[in-house]
Amino acid sequence: MPDFFSAPLDLTDPPVADALAREARRQSAQIELIASENLVSGAVLEALGHQIANKTLEGYPGKRFHAGGEFVDVLEEAAVERAQRLFGCEFVNVQPHSGTQANQAVLFALLEPGDRLLSLDLAAGGHLSHGSAPNLSGRWFDAHHYGVSRDTGLIDYDALAHQAQQLRPKLLIAGGSAYPREIDFVRMAEIAAECGARLLVDMAHFAGLVAAGVHPSPVPHADLVTCTTTKTLRGPRGGLILSRDAQWRKALQAAVFPGVQGSLHTQVIAAKAVCLGEALQPAFQEYGAQLKRNAATLAETLHQRGVDIVSGGTDTHLVLLDLRRQAITGQRAQTVLEAASITSNRNPVPFDARNPAQWAGLRLGVGAVTTRGFREQEMQRVGGLIADLLEAASGSDASATVEACAARVASLCEAFPIYPAN
Ligand SMILES: Cc1ncc(COP(=O)(O)O)c(C=O)c1O
Repeated sequence: MPDFFSAPLDLTDPPVADALAREARRQSAQIELIASENLVSGAVLEALGHQIANKTLEGYPGKRFHAGGEFVDVLEEAAVERAQRLFGCEFVNVQPHSGTQANQAVLFALLEPGDRLLSLDLAAGGHLSHGSAPNLSGRWFDAHHYGVSRDTGLIDYDALAHQAQQLRPKLLIAGGSAYPREIDFVRMAEIAAECGARLLVDMAHFAGLVAAGVHPSPVPHADLVTCTTTKTLRGPRGGLILSRDAQWRKALQAAVFPGVQGSLHTQVIAAKAVCLGEALQPAFQEYGAQLKRNAATLAETLHQRGVDIVSGGTDTHLVLLDLRRQAITGQRAQTVLEAASITSNRNPVPFDARNPAQWAGLRLGVGAVTTRGFREQEMQRVGGLIADLLEAASGSDASATVEACAARVASLCEAFPIYPAN
């Protein structure tokens, strides 16, 4: 009988161990360009795999519903204090299990069922948890959406101000999953104030850029800010809620627990503390600056090869391709890139079809490759590979190009190894 506490997984459960080993090899051997992904540090992984995961706790440090929480308290307090320092805010809740639940808790704290909210349209780069129809936030609230200008792909703040005056929402939401540009938080706050709304900024994608000081911070301008600790912040899967002052403390603490969640994911709290500690180090600022240079290089390389970039470029880690000129769908592009070991995702472009199978966009993000060590030179090579693959994808047989690109992807990945076990 293998020892329950020490036997390795490949002995106790070979199919699971095998799938994990293959996933590790996939991450090592593929160029990861999904904008919501990154590679966490070995330290974050160590915290995630710690036996602290055994601990059940509800409530907040000093006010738990179970005994034995003193070390989790240390971790949660460290995570809160680090996030306060990193983002310059008075209030932080580090417990949300995900970005969606962070947003849910904010809606729970600020709105009553049926109240009106106004957020960025999904096709313009918004997020499901901001009031889209199939999500609880769309079912329980009166959700309306603003878009981007057809000419520029940018938020049209005058049109938004007019819409907000007409609708008078209780909550205005800024931020999204596929908006590659900086958002004017000052203007957003003015628009919210003019119509009597609260402003929530969901900085899930660009939180790491804010932490690195290479992107404006929404914290001074928004009533509340949410984010994930994944993506550019380069931490475990989970969410944060932040506020510049403590006026919402009581409502938000209660909204997270017991409002929308139960016990803590204790190992994730530990990993959040680690990632926030990493983001406070000077090296994180260099990583943030490199994210922006890498995304700009990728956008420019693709643009020079005749690929349309939504909004004409990027201010973040994210580049959204508009493939209508190539006459291929985002799905076709995603499939052909994946065949060459480049991972991405189809996405709507502004004013796109509703059916995901017909979406004309491909979303790319440079978080994981930047962490891996790619710089401008590598991003030019990646852009060249993607352009070759997109050209091949619009023909009838992409196989020769896929084969040639896959070999070049393999050698790039070998030159930038990741975790030691891979
Ligand atoms: C803007 C935004 N908010 C929230 C989320 C949701 O995060 P999670 O997947 O952790 O629920 C995402 C995820 O991609 C996002 O892009």
